[in-house]
Amino acid sequence: MNEILVCNPSYFDINYEINSWMSVDNGADPEKASRQWLNLTNQLLGCGATLHYIEPDPRFPDMVFTANAGLVHSKTRTVILSNFRHKERQGEKQVFKDWFLNHDYRVVELPEHICFEGEGDALFLGDTLFLGYGFRTDLSAHSIVANALGVDYVSCELVDPYFYHLDTCFMPMSDRVVYFKNAFSDYSQISMIDKFIEIGTERGRLDILNVHKEQADEFICNSVNVKSSIITPTSSSHLSFAGYKQYVCNLSEFMKSGGAAKCLTLKL
Ligand code: ARG
Repeated sequence: MNEILVCNPSYFDINYEINSWMSVDNGADPEKASRQWLNLTNQLLGCGATLHYIEPDPRFPDMVFTANAGLVHSKTRTVILSNFRHKERQGEKQVFKDWFLNHDYRVVELPEHICFEGEGDALFLGDTLFLGYGFRTDLSAHSIVANALGVDYVSCELVDPYFYHLDTCFMPMSDRVVYFKNAFSDYSQISMIDKFIEIGTERGRLDILNVHKEQADEFICNSVNVKSSIITPTSSSHLSFAGYKQYVCNLSEFMKSGGAAKCLTLKL
């Protein structure tokens, strides 16, 4: 993950509640948020990432979570744009669309009535696309997204409202997968394990790390991997990413909105 889209938090705020973490009575401190975001972007740069910046829009406080803009397929410079579930975020679609068009991406749009929330619910483990559904993205989006990219996919049903996007509880890496099993339905847990085993067999090895609830609650699965480094939003959960340089970035203000390091980035 070297080319990354980010959006500064000038207008970041919590003035509506669209997930279980958000409370308008527990607003974000704008100065702290700005410091934390700068720290994250500096760490990303330090790890060797190239950052691309989209201008924030005062109408959309959650635009800072660029992971939800869409799913980018870098090989073909294609983006599958998101159709946001909640009206509060629906207008972000046009803003992100303009950015992608201005940067020479091929833009694919899903039928209007089908919700899809981008990389928040769509992550590759190797060549297989893991797609979340249950809270934001519709199951019916999965085959459309996978077919548009011509890739194999696994549908993962999310059942815990605190883990409403796939990237809050599932983190694929080149040599391992870190996830919180209980965020998924029993049926999906089985299909996911089956796929992990298949991928591991093909590769010769894939480590599977099922984190504890306490770690998941601290957004450990929402860490960002750049080259041989990991930026994690928490230090207290004692998960060491063996073999990686690990950096901690306090993102408390964004966690109040239900997102952390990974949500603040979109892989280009
Ligand atoms: N407040 C935002 C929302 O509920 C948080 C989005 C977090 N993004 C993510 N990719 N998990 O939509």
